[in-house]
Amino acid sequence: MRQETIIVFDRAEKMYEDKYALRDFSFEIRKGAFLTVVGGSGGGKTTMLKMINGLLLPDSGSVRVGGMDTAHTDLIALRRKIGYVIQGGGLFPHLNVRENIAYVPRLKKEKISPEHIGELLDMVALPADIMERNVSELSGGQQQRVGIARALAARPEILLMDEPFGAVDGITRKQLQDAIRDIHERTKATIVFVTHDLREAVRLGSWILIMNEGEVVQQGTPEDVRNNPNGDYAAQFIKQLECE
Ligand SMILES: Nc1ncnc2c1ncn2[C@@H]1O[C@H](COP(=O)(O)OP(=O)(O)OP(=O)(O)O)[C@@H](O)[C@H]1O
Ligand SMILES: [Mg+2]
Repeated sequence: MRQETIIVFDRAEKMYEDKYALRDFSFEIRKGAFLTVVGGSGGGKTTMLKMINGLLLPDSGSVRVGGMDTAHTDLIALRRKIGYVIQGGGLFPHLNVRENIAYVPRLKKEKISPEHIGELLDMVALPADIMERNVSELSGGQQQRVGIARALAARPEILLMDEPFGAVDGITRKQLQDAIRDIHERTKATIVFVTHDLREAVRLGSWILIMNEGEVVQQGTPEDVRNNPNGDYAAQFIKQLECE
C-alpha cells in the first residue's frame, strides 16, 4: 500500500540577501514517517522546518501541508496541527510545568485535565509531581522533556523538532531518544527531526535527508544512505559513523 504524502516541498526557494538558504528544494514526506534531517551548519535545516509550519514562506515554489499551500492557508489553524520543539524546550520561564503544557490547549479553549498532563509527563519519563514546579528550577534535560510534552498536548499530526536533544548529556539523550521513538509509535504522528548527530539520525529515522547549502544531497532509509552515500559530501558525512 502506498502511503499518503503529508508534506510536499515543490521547488521551494528562500534567499537572504544574495545567498540561498533553500534552493530549488523539492522533497516529499510520507504521513507517519520519522524523518531525520542532517547536514552541516547553515545548510538550511531550520529554514526547511520553519516552512512547514509557515513561520517562513518560500520566495518561490511552494510548500503544501495536508494538501494546503502554506502561502494561501490559515496559518494559525495550520500551526494548531503542528507541534514545534526547539533546543532547550522554548518554555515560558514564568509559568510552571502544568501551565506550560496547558498553554496551547487553553488557547484553543480546550480543557486539559491533570490526569492527561500526568500521562504526557509519563510519555517523556517525568514524574507527575513535577507539575507545579517552576520550569526555571528544572535541569536542561527536564526542560527539554517538558517542551516535548507541551508539543504533544495539542495532539499534533506533525511534530517538528529542531535539534531538540543538542544540549543534553549522553545518558539523558539516550532516554529522550527512547521516549520520542515510543511517542512516534503510540501517536503515529509524522515527525521531522533535525539533528547534528548522524548516529542519532540513523538510530531514530525511518527516512533520512542529508542537506547542504539549501539543497537535497541524499535521501533514503538509514541503511540505504549508510551503504550507498551519494557523492563526496554524503560520503564525508557518513564517515562520522565509523569513528566512535
Ligand atoms: N534571518 C536570517 N537572516 C539572514 N540569513 C539567515 C537568516 N536565517 C537563516 N539565514 C541563513 O540561511 C542559511 C540557512 O540557515 P539555517 O538556519 O536554515 O541553517 P541550519 O541548517 O539550520 O544550520 P544550523 O545547523 O547551524 O542550525 C544560513 O546561511 C543562514 O546564515
Ligand atoms: Mg538550525
